[in-house]
Amino acid sequence: MKKNSLKNLEAVDKTAFCQDLIGWFTEEMRDLPWRKDQDPYKVWVSEIMLQQTRVDTVIPYFNRFMEQFPTIEALSEAEEERVLKAWEGLGYYSRARNLHSAVKEVQVKYEGKVPDNPKEISSLKGVGPYTAGAILSIAYGIPEPAVDGNVMRVLSRILFIEDDIAKPSSRKIFEKAVRELISHENPSYFNQALMELGAIVCTPTSPSCLLCPVREHCVAFHEGVQGELPVKTKNKKQREVHLAAAVLKDDSGRTLIHKRAEKGLLANLWEFPNIEIHLPFKTEKDQVKQALQSEYGADAVLGEMVGKIEHVFSHLTWTIHVYEGSLTALTEEKPDLKLVTPEQIESYPFPVSHQKIIKQFYS
Ligand code: ADE
Repeated sequence: MKKNSLKNLEAVDKTAFCQDLIGWFTEEMRDLPWRKDQDPYKVWVSEIMLQQTRVDTVIPYFNRFMEQFPTIEALSEAEEERVLKAWEGLGYYSRARNLHSAVKEVQVKYEGKVPDNPKEISSLKGVGPYTAGAILSIAYGIPEPAVDGNVMRVLSRILFIEDDIAKPSSRKIFEKAVRELISHENPSYFNQALMELGAIVCTPTSPSCLLCPVREHCVAFHEGVQGELPVKTKNKKQREVHLAAAVLKDDSGRTLIHKRAEKGLLANLWEFPNIEIHLPFKTEKDQVKQALQSEYGADAVLGEMVGKIEHVFSHLTWTIHVYEGSLTALTEEKPDLKLVTPEQIESYPFPVSHQKIIKQFYS
């Protein structure tokens, strides 16, 4: 922590700040499907979906998810594969797996009622301090902070906080600020208003200070330094991984697909057989043929490379070279290695990169 990160907190007129912020939110809040009621389950699902994903992207996923799994009970009884299928394309799939297992725990341990206190709610899988605070404040009206990157950006400007928001340890400073500022009459609107302000006014690159309801209270605005905050060090460059994937059909037009391991990146999702390619790239096709045999028990006649897919994760990038081919022999089908028809393939959850392969190279 900087010596006195919260030095400007004392000077804020807290009552006026809350009034201006909440008054603005009451008038201007976007009409979003998870704001129709305070059902803690819906708040929970929406907050998990909104991590690392934009509101516009989340809306249709949220609506479909609620149609398929309208209650804690419905989600707790669902097969994991259906849950992953409903999440397909949203990314960061451990969010879905953790949500599913936490919802099962709520069903069994708390009779289907989402806990309403920090200790129990924080013990649920995938419920970190942000999500716990968001559910407790929005669904239960409890004055707990819900601090994510957007809220840190907003508060770094209002209070001129210069701590590096990329450092995990900084979140505590911002939580402390929220604990001092939060409205005890309406913690739900207070937290949502900070999120909303970050989303539509106090944006990362060119904040719309002239439209800001709390401009008067904002130290960065008064000093003209809103563009220089927050302090945020760049994350490391993504590691590049080269892969080759094969779309292999057997005599009857079925395609070989593989289920990924139950731990790690994209766990339990399905994909086309693929391998990481090592130098020299000119031996790529032979590397693919060998790996198909040794890792999948598959003999294939491979054609030329038909295309290339790029996919960027937060920490690495995939470049996938795609091959088509005929499957001439397969040692055995297994629970994680199946031959599927074009109709069947649609019910399996694939990561976005392999959905792109389906769209472009699978017919
Ligand atoms: N971002 C994170 N949580 C949000 C919410 N409840 N509404 C809008 N944007 C959000």
